[in-house]
Amino acid sequence: MSELALLMRRMDKMVSEWKKDIEMGTLDMTKVPDWLDRLHTAEATDPEEINEVYHTMADAWIESVVQLKKATQSDIPKAFNALVNNCVNCHQQFCQGPIPKIKKLYVDIPQHVSGSGN
Ligand code: HEC
Repeated sequence: MSELALLMRRMDKMVSEWKKDIEMGTLDMTKVPDWLDRLHTAEATDPEEINEVYHTMADAWIESVVQLKKATQSDIPKAFNALVNNCVNCHQQFCQGPIPKIKKLYVDIPQHVSGSGN
């Protein structure tokens, strides 16, 4: 398995954990993991596919992680879904297979915050 595929599995796992935390209302990101920068350098299965478009999308994805970290409590679900959307955008260009799985990461956006839960 390529270095990039391993990195993707690690990202997938991390983002699944964030999803659980968001659904419980307990997401507490202390920092943006610095290993995310490896998106730019990890060896892919098809290294010749890694082009400028890829690097632009990798930057956009990392920026969406920064935005999630900065989001206020009520903006977290929206910021998180924007992040998942950036996973899907890159995959539409470079690796369609995992898209159905990635789409399961979206969280429901509460229409209103009633405090009554459910
Ligand atoms: C900048 C582009 C880009 C972004 C952003 C991106 N991916 Fe990927 N992803 C790829 C590429 C390219 C591969 C193929 C890697 C390879 O085979 O070397 C891949 C592979 C994968 C795989 C398959 C790994 C395997 O087992 O072979 C999964 C799962 C995955 N990505 C999930 C995600 C998730 C979840 C996110 C967002 C949290 C994400 N990806 C964000 C480009 C991206």
